[in-house]
Amino acid sequence: MGFKRSDASARDQRPQGVFPTIRIRVWGFRDLHRVREVKSYTVDYSRIVIGVPIDAPRKLYLVLDPPVSGVELQRLEEIAGELVYVVEEIPDEKGLLGMLRERGVVRPELQYLIVRELAKDRFGPLDPLMNDPSLENIECTGPGKPVTVTHNEFGRLETNLVFEEEELDKLVMKLANKAGKSVSKANPKIDNARLPGGHRLACTFMSEISESSSFVIRKFPSEPWTVTKQMLRGTLTPEIGAWLWLLIEHKLPVLVVGGMGTGKTSLANALCGFIPPDKRVGTAEDVPEFNLPVKKHNWQRMFTRDSYTLDGRGSIDLSQLVKEMLRYQVEYMIVNEIRGEEARVWFQQVSSGHGGVTTIHADDFEAAVARLKDLGIDVASLSGLHGLVYIGVYTVGGRRARRIREVADFSVEDGRPSFRQVFVYDPASDSYKCMPPEEMAKLRSAKKIMSFSERIRSEEDFVREYELRRRYLAWLRDMAAADPRYLNPEFLVGEFEKFYANPRYFESITPPEAPKRAVEAAPARAAFADSSVKVLRWGKRELGGSVRVVGVRKSASEGAVAVVERKAKGKKGGKEKRKFLGLRRE
Ligand SMILES: Nc1ncnc2c1ncn2[C@@H]1O[C@H](COP(=O)(O)OP(=O)(O)OP(=O)(O)O)[C@@H](O)[C@H]1O
Ligand SMILES: [Mg+2]
Repeated sequence: MGFKRSDASARDQRPQGVFPTIRIRVWGFRDLHRVREVKSYTVDYSRIVIGVPIDAPRKLYLVLDPPVSGVELQRLEEIAGELVYVVEEIPDEKGLLGMLRERGVVRPELQYLIVRELAKDRFGPLDPLMNDPSLENIECTGPGKPVTVTHNEFGRLETNLVFEEEELDKLVMKLANKAGKSVSKANPKIDNARLPGGHRLACTFMSEISESSSFVIRKFPSEPWTVTKQMLRGTLTPEIGAWLWLLIEHKLPVLVVGGMGTGKTSLANALCGFIPPDKRVGTAEDVPEFNLPVKKHNWQRMFTRDSYTLDGRGSIDLSQLVKEMLRYQVEYMIVNEIRGEEARVWFQQVSSGHGGVTTIHADDFEAAVARLKDLGIDVASLSGLHGLVYIGVYTVGGRRARRIREVADFSVEDGRPSFRQVFVYDPASDSYKCMPPEEMAKLRSAKKIMSFSERIRSEEDFVREYELRRRYLAWLRDMAAADPRYLNPEFLVGEFEKFYANPRYFESITPPEAPKRAVEAAPARAAFADSSVKVLRWGKRELGGSVRVVGVRKSASEGAVAVVERKAKGKKGGKEKRKFLGLRRE
C-alpha cells in the first residue's frame, strides 16, 4: 500500500469517518484491451491514450489515472475531507505535499490525486485535460454524457470522463469560483470568465436555462502566438506575412475572418508582431486572450466588465473601450471579435488614420461584409478596410492543421464590395497560389501605401520592400526552427527593432540547421525501461567506453527511440564533455 503510517501523526489515530469525505475521481477504461492505440503520452501521473475501439470507427481520448485500490481511495478521500474541513486555508502545493507526508501519503501518484483535487490552481477531475497542452477545448453538455475535447492533431474526440448530475453541478460551481464568479439558480450562466492560467470558461448551472449544468473551456495557449510560431505550423507563409506586414506597418486595417475556434484570435495576436515596435497599441477584449508580441510599455490593455447591479448599471462594453483608447493616444486599435456597436466605432477610427486588426466570426468574406453592414457600418466607412484574411481548419497529411484559406485586397467599387484575391490556398497540394508581387504593387492597398510612405514611392519600391520582407520572414522562420528563442515574443520584438534600424542585418547570418525531430512523444520512462537497458548494452558494445542513455522516448510510429551520450574527458583533462552519438530504434 502507498501509505506509511506515522506514529507521530496524532490525527491518524482519530476514528475513521469523522469528517465528510471529498470525492476523488480516478479515471480508467475497462475495455482498454479492445482499443487500438494511435498515440499515448503522459500528463503528470496520468496516461493519455488516443485510440480506436475495435468495434467502433471513432477515436477516443482516454485518461488513465494512476491505479489505486478501493481501500487506498477511501483513505485518500478521508484525508482530503480532513484537510478541507480542518485546515482553514489550503496552502500552496508545496505546503499541501508537506501535510500529506505528515499523514503518511508518500507515494507521489497518490499525493498527486489529492493535490489536483484540493490545490487552488488545479482542476480536480479535469486536471489531466487542463494540463495537456495538445487540447484546445474541453466541453461537457450534461451528466451521463462523455466530456469531449478538441485535440490539436486529431480534432474533436470523446473522452472516458462522464459526470453524474450532482457531481457536475458541484464541478460547475467550483469552476465558476475558480474564475472569481458564482453561479446559482438566480444567476444560472457565465458567458466569459477567466480561469487560473487564462483559460476561458462559459457554463450553465442546473436546469434553469438548459437541461442541466454544462461547461465549455477554451484553453489558453501557454506560449503566445507569434509570426514565427504560425510560420513553423505552416499557417502563415513568408509571402502572406510580407504582404500583411506592409499593410499593418502602414496602418492599413486588417480583418481576420473565420469560423468558431479556427484560430482567428491567435492569428490576430501574431500579426500584431508586424506593428512597428515604437508604436502605441491598445487592445479591447472580453476576457484576456491577447498576449501581444509588442513592447509591454507601448501596450494599453483593456477588458470589458459585467454589471454589478441587477439593472445592468456599471457594465463596460467593447465599444466604450474602443472610444476610451483614444484618450491613451494609441496608434493601433486591436479588438477581439467585433459583433456589436464596437464594430462601428472601430471602423470610424481606422478610417481616420488609426491602424487596426480585428476578428469577426463569418463563413467567408462576403458573409463578413454583410455582417458588418448589419452592424450599421455604412459603405463610406467600409472602404476604410484593406486587408482580409480567412483562416480555416484542414487535414494535412492526416493531421489537423490551420491554414490561411485566402487573403484579399478589399475595396468598395461603385458602392459594391470588391475582393481581389492575393493568396489562395490549395488543400490538395498544401500550397498557395500567390499573386506576383508586380501585380500586388498595382492593388489599391499598395497604391495607398505609395501615397504616403517615404520609402515606398513607386511600384518598383513596393516590389523591392515586399521581397525584402519575404526574405526576412523566411529567415526568421528558419532561425526559429533551430533556435526556440525566435518563438519568444520579447525576443522577436528585439529582432524587428534590429530590422527597422538596419533592414539588411540578417543577410550575413546563415540560419543553423534545424535539429532532426526524431523524438516525437513525451517520455514514458517506466514503460520503456527495458529498451533503455538494451540501448545501453548496444551503446557499450558499439561505441565502447562509458556510455549513458539520457532519455528513452516513444516515437509515434515505431518502438522506443533512445538518445545516447558518451562521457569523454576534454583534452586538457578539464570538464567532462558530452557528445551526442546517435539514435537507436528498438
Ligand atoms: N495556427 C495554429 N495552429 C495550431 N493551433 C492553433 C493555431 N492557431 C490557433 N490555434 C489553437 O486553436 C485554438 C483556437 O484558437 P483561437 O482562440 O485563436 O480561435 P478563435 O477562432 O478566435 O476562436 P473563437 O471563435 O472561440 O473566438 C486555441 O487552442 C489555439 O491555441
Ligand atoms: Mg477568438
